[in-house]
Amino acid sequence: MNKNSLLSMRDLAESDIFSILNDALLFETEYKDWQLPVNQAMVANLFFEASTRTHYSFESAEYQLGCKVADIDTSVSSITKGETLYDTIKTLEVIGYDAVVIRHPEDAYYARLEGVEIPVINAGDGKGEHPTQCLLDLLTLYKEFGTLKSLKVVICGDIAHSRVAASNKHALEMLGSSVAFCGPSEWEREGFPFVDFDEAIKSADAVMMLRIQRERGAKTTGTDAEYLNAYGMNKDRYKMLQDHAILMHPAPVNRGVEIDGDLIEAEKSRIFPQMANGVLVRKAVIKRAFGIKPFKE
Ligand code: CP
Repeated sequence: MNKNSLLSMRDLAESDIFSILNDALLFETEYKDWQLPVNQAMVANLFFEASTRTHYSFESAEYQLGCKVADIDTSVSSITKGETLYDTIKTLEVIGYDAVVIRHPEDAYYARLEGVEIPVINAGDGKGEHPTQCLLDLLTLYKEFGTLKSLKVVICGDIAHSRVAASNKHALEMLGSSVAFCGPSEWEREGFPFVDFDEAIKSADAVMMLRIQRERGAKTTGTDAEYLNAYGMNKDRYKMLQDHAILMHPAPVNRGVEIDGDLIEAEKSRIFPQMANGVLVRKAVIKRAFGIKPFKE
């Protein structure tokens, strides 16, 4: 695999994470108009699952960096005629694409891409990992607290199916913060023990709510209102947050299920700023994919 690929947060050492975050911060300030020195680099986006934020923030990042973008409609690619994922990506490589961004429903789909030479950026694999979501979450926390050490982060909801939870657990723990998990016991995942949500949020610096991933088989028995009352961020729980705490969500949100719709743009919410941070980190990840050193080392 190309060494500038980003497949998992496990690919990144602490110094790599901070290089990406620092580049992302500089893309917001003095390097706003910076573009890749590679003339009209060609990037292909392949989304085999629905996406709004990741797909179109990658596309926004690519255009801002001066790339030529092929937004491949996977429903009419030759994969529908039996071509393997490897053969599709290898084809894109030999016909001139310089990098690919892939979201796929299969955990670790990229293990099938050994032999591809261009960089592959993972935009989410099944319930495996979502590294660029994790990086934008880290950027959001870093902007808020000026550190990624000793933070107490609580993640609540459908942990069993969450690649966001998996990437954040690995990265935040590696960086010296703690992550507690909460939700209905049937969504507890090996290695992600659950704690009581109402207790955990009282001392949290950040609370991250997760959507129920019904498309991956998650089921609930009660009504949406019952779920919100038992496990969601409702107005009573919002009042329990510490003064400095922030509320996060990778989105898309299901209003009135895991979060009261009135809280999405509440004072402590960083849900829309997270999306803006997504463009910044994706610019930094694409820059890295092209082998360009951090702006400041
Ligand atoms: N957070 C996230 O991955 O959103 P999308 O599914 O809309 O890309």
